[in-house]
Amino acid sequence: MQRIRLGVNIDHVATLRNARGGTHPDPLRAARLIRGAGGDQVTAHLREDRRHITDADMERLVASSDLPVNMEMAATPEMLAIALRLRPHACCIVPERREERTTESGLNVVAQAPALGEIITSLRGAGIRVALFVDPVSEHIEAAARLGCDAVELHTGAYAAASGSARQAELQRLREAAALVQSLGLECHAGHGLNYENVGPVAAIPEIVELNIGHFLIGEAVFVGFEAAVRHMRHLIDAARAG
Ligand code: PXP
Repeated sequence: MQRIRLGVNIDHVATLRNARGGTHPDPLRAARLIRGAGGDQVTAHLREDRRHITDADMERLVASSDLPVNMEMAATPEMLAIALRLRPHACCIVPERREERTTESGLNVVAQAPALGEIITSLRGAGIRVALFVDPVSEHIEAAARLGCDAVELHTGAYAAASGSARQAELQRLREAAALVQSLGLECHAGHGLNYENVGPVAAIPEIVELNIGHFLIGEAVFVGFEAAVRHMRHLIDAARAG
């Protein structure tokens, strides 16, 4: 089975820095440790309220990271303009509500199709790969395919939050969604709420080629160090993939 790309989301290094308003800890320093720890991509979300990653961070990441940068962004004219200026390797379009703590659900691709279509066309025209962040729901996945994006990132939050038979049901939804994404000719990515305990069954889904993981890894880094946390996640993903 294909090796999974691991994108490490470094937003919460910036959260910690912003708690004191200075320059430490620096998200770029974290980004530069990802490759050596077995990660493949730097993921960062420039939120409209700039609560963690700032414009300057995103600029430095794209200019100085030794790995491809995946910019998570809302579908707004402001974010589109920033992405077109910085030209990260990839953009993942996510829904955003200012009052939410994190990205709580996937995009309503059906309702937002015209606006998303324009953004996808602009980004792809600039050579940027585009993913849409969606719940494992076939109508949104099919709508994403019609819009011509490169990939769909499946929201794993409901799976991560569930337990027992409910978790098994969520896992089955992810499996069926991943198969649909691949059958439509799109790359299948996944992420949100993944940790050491729940990553294995998701990493074992053969159609998934990329995982983006953040909050748990930054939290774990407080105890074991950033590189050790990423390295252990890499090991668990590879072990699950190997069966
Ligand atoms: N993928 C997307 C599209 C996200 O918005 C996020 C959270 O910013 C993640 C992955 C990572 O989620 P977590 O921080 O829960 O690992």
